[in-house]
This record gives sequence, C-alpha cells and structure tokens, in this order.
Amino acid sequence: MFFYVHKERKMINMKKYVAKVFSTYINLSEDEIVSLLETPPNREMGDVAFPCFSLAKTFKKAPQMIAEELADAFKDDLVEAKAIGPYLNFFFNRSKYAAQLVENILAKKEKVGEGEEGKGKTVVVDYSSPNIAKPFSLPHLRSTMIGNAIVKLHQALGYKVVGINHLGDWGTQFGKEIVAYKKWGNDEAIRENPIEELVKIYIKFHEEAEKHPELEDEAREWFKKLEEGDEEAVRLWKWFVEESLKEFNKIYDLLGVSFDHFMGESFYNDKMDRVINELTDKGLLEESEGAMIVDLSEQDMPPALIKKKDGTSIYATRDLAAALYRKDTFDFEKLFYVVGNEQFLHFQQIFAVMKKMGYKWADQMQHVPFGLMLFENKKMSTRKGTIVLLEEVLQKSIEMADKIIEEKNPNLPNRQEVAEAIGVGAIIFNDLKHHRMHEVNFSWEEALNFEGETGPYVQYTNARTQSVLRKSDFEEKDLINLEGQFIQGEAAWNLVVMLSQYSDVLGKAANRAEPSILARYLLDISAQFNRFYHQERIIAENMDEQKAKLGLSLAVSYTLQHGLTIIGLKTPSAI
Ligand code: ARG
Repeated sequence: MFFYVHKERKMINMKKYVAKVFSTYINLSEDEIVSLLETPPNREMGDVAFPCFSLAKTFKKAPQMIAEELADAFKDDLVEAKAIGPYLNFFFNRSKYAAQLVENILAKKEKVGEGEEGKGKTVVVDYSSPNIAKPFSLPHLRSTMIGNAIVKLHQALGYKVVGINHLGDWGTQFGKEIVAYKKWGNDEAIRENPIEELVKIYIKFHEEAEKHPELEDEAREWFKKLEEGDEEAVRLWKWFVEESLKEFNKIYDLLGVSFDHFMGESFYNDKMDRVINELTDKGLLEESEGAMIVDLSEQDMPPALIKKKDGTSIYATRDLAAALYRKDTFDFEKLFYVVGNEQFLHFQQIFAVMKKMGYKWADQMQHVPFGLMLFENKKMSTRKGTIVLLEEVLQKSIEMADKIIEEKNPNLPNRQEVAEAIGVGAIIFNDLKHHRMHEVNFSWEEALNFEGETGPYVQYTNARTQSVLRKSDFEEKDLINLEGQFIQGEAAWNLVVMLSQYSDVLGKAANRAEPSILARYLLDISAQFNRFYHQERIIAENMDEQKAKLGLSLAVSYTLQHGLTIIGLKTPSAI
C-alpha cells in the first residue's frame, strides 16, 4: 500500500489514504469513509479516526467491539490502527509518511497540488468588467482579483477556463457622455487624462440636468443614435473606449491580470434581436407602461425590464444575449459572474428569465457576489467625485513597500521589481484574505505589515524558505532519499499534515468560488513554517537531518509559490 503512494507520486492526503486502505475492510466507498473520518482532538489519539457507530446496525454489534475487531484485522505498511472506545484510530508511520510526502512535492515542483478533475470541462469567468469613461475603482479591483483567482484555481484543477471582461461599454450613459462632450469637452484634456476628464464632464452633465431636464432627452436621443450606428456617435464612443482602455490596461499590467476576451456589452448589440424574438415566440414578453418586460411575479421578483419605452436595450438584455452566446460558443460547464452583491437581484432575474425560456443549463450560471470595499473606512462613489483612482493607490503602495525594503534590505539587487511585487501583493492579499461576502477595509498600515496577516508576510516567508537553501550545504537536486525521522518535531509534523491538505484546499476554494480559503491556508502555512524556523535548526550539523529539513522547507516553498501565484501575487526569492 505504501508503494501505491510512491509509484503514482500523488500528494496523498491522510484521510484519503486511510479511506483507500480501509475500504477493503468494510462495505463503504472511499468517499463515504472520507466523509466519516475525523481528526482526533489530540495527537495521542492518532492522526485520523473512524467512528464506528454507523456500523453498529450492519455488524449487529456494539461499536466498541467493531472497533476492536477491525483494529485486529487491519494491516498496512504506512498506517496502524488501534481501537479507542468506539473509535478506530489510525496512526501514520510519521517518518515514512513525512519523507514520502515531501519527496512527492519536490517531484511535482511548480505543479504541486494540481489535479485533473476538470479535464475536458470548460468554465467561463466573467470578471473585472469596469465601465468605460469611469474610473477603475477599488470595487472593480475586488472583481478583478477574485475573478483572477477563480480562473487560476480552475486551471489548477485541469479545467479549460475562458476569462471574459464584460466591459461596460454600452448604455444610456454614453448618450450622456456624448452630450457632455459636445457641450463642455476638451480634446486635449481628454487625451491627457481621459478618465478624469470624462468623469468631470459626466458629473457636470448630472448637475446641469437637474436644472435642465431636457438634457436627459438629448442624451437618450444620442444613445439611440449610437445603437442605430450613427457615424458621429460611433466615432466618439470608440474614442472614449480606446482612451479608457489605455488606462485600464495600465492597471491590468500592474496587477498582472490578463483576459482571454474583452467582450463588452457593445459586443451584443447585434445579438439582442435573438433574445427579443425568442422571448416573443415563447410568449414571455409583455408590454408595461410602454416598456417591454418579462413578468417574474411567480418567482417573487420584480419584472425584468427588457426594452425601454424609447426602444433602447438595457444592461439585462445584453446579459441575456451574452449568456446565450457564451453557451453556444464555449459550451461551459459553469459560468461565474464575479460582480458585487448590489447586483444580486439583477442576476437572479437573468437566471429566472433564462429558466422561463426553457434553458435548463441556467443552473450552471452562478453569481459570485462580494461585499463592499472601503478605503481607509470610507465609501466611494463615482458621481460624487470621492473616488480613489486605483492606479494611484497601487503606485502609493509600491512606494511604501520600497521604503520598507530600504530599511530592511537596502542592497537588494532588483529592488524596484520587489517593491512592485510587495506593494501590489499587499493590496491584492488584503482583498482576498477576507471571505468575499465580508466588507473589506483597506488601510496602508494593515496591508503592508510584514508581521500581520498580509501578502508581504507570506511573500517574506516564501523568500525565507528559499534563503535557507541558499545558505545550506545542499542544492535542490540533492534533496532525495530523505530521512523522515528528522521532520517529526511539533511544528515540522504540523507542516507535513498541512502540506498534505493542499490539493483539497484548492478544490474547496474552487468549488466554493472562495479564494479566501486559499489565502487563509497560505497564512497558516507561513505561521507554521516560521514556528519551525525559529524552533529548530534547519542548517543542522547532521547532514541527513539538514537534508530532510531543507526538503521540508522547499516543499513549503513550492506550495507557497503555487498558492500565491493563484491568488495573483508575485513570489520574489529574496526580499
Ligand atoms: N460593468 C458592470 C459594473 O461595473 C459589471 C458587469 C458585470 N458582468 C455582467 N455580465 N453583468 O457594474
């Protein structure tokens, strides 16, 4: 049985291993056993425990008796079984297990934890999706980073992933923007500072429209022209899009995020007739006060607005068209919409309309909401002008990281690069370490603290796992045939156990679309590694001991690097 682990070079998790062996003794599947297995409250009671209560009926015996009989029968090279009351407790041969696990990780290297459960399946992730002519705000950062992590998590599990930026590049606001531009726009200023300038005139539009409501009619008229392909309207719109994208791309570059497709809302302009026709054919479209709607009263929801009084389309219409297009084009197993919780109703309505249209696969679409992001405890809004430009936030963070490096390690060779990795990483990690539905507050002091629960802390720990190897008598290739008895101390063994859970952590984070599960795990591993680092001498005099401990450090390193990369952080090898 021990051979099984070795041969297949699997990162075998303790519960899974026990389930595999134990399933030959009882009439339960491996999955059933895994779900029943528990982690005992203390080490003296073993590594994994099986409660025998559920077997009492089939065996027609007291659970204590069953535990004893199974303990007598159980035989394996790697695990021993003992009956403790009604529990069958499993004790791993820690030396063998630790050595084997570390060697497996070192063999997998950059592919540690990766799986194949998604093989042959496609997942589409709709994320980031900022609005043209509006600032890329911190809430868009949340969507970008949560979405990016969901993309990478699924890739690690073997899925084919299609990442789509559903840019907000269509809608009545472009009518307003065109009117504002024609009245108050200045070409040069826009070219120099596109978003700031476009926002400025957009705000002015709203102020003026309060006094002169006819501006709203003008704006509606211009959007209608745009939808109908009017040359001037299209030219101006294209220009706004181009200039805004230049700004957005600077941010994506800093964040290290890229997309398979930029398919904004405008992409569906010629694909909405299909939606309208289908809704009409299926008898779902109704007129209400001049507008066209789909009634959702049976679903306890307000009606979904499909076409406005003036005949123009809206956000929801484009989302329906996008869903149909994506299913046809990518044949997805799952479509995630990574969008703030304030759009909860919108997505429930979209899904309900799709179901009413008879698309069973509507169940494969999932809204992945997230909570508000505050900046130094303050809310942000585009209109009121209290927005924080994300690029400024990122640049400031990089500067602050650079100052810290200057104090810690002034001679670091690639300082600028590392400052960027740390500064940007601090912001991303601060976002992803929280359960996504929770409100996130961003504060410089907290996010950049190298000793707190931060990105820099994990990055720093990763650099440390590599610097011990550099200071040692060995190179990576020497770390074979490890003696597991040297990695049995409290902290070392805890690390081994945690490392064995990595692929499960990835699976859980992907299935729940919850990157914080991974971020928290990386914090835990880091804390445990630092405990190990401070409690034990890794560069021990005994060479076998040194090798084993370095092996463990490097296994931690591969795991941290893999995990950090998934959540979008860079992994400098020295800080
Ligand atoms: N542009 C939208 C916003 O900023 C988000 C779009 C999300 N994706 C979608 N398919 N609706 O609010």
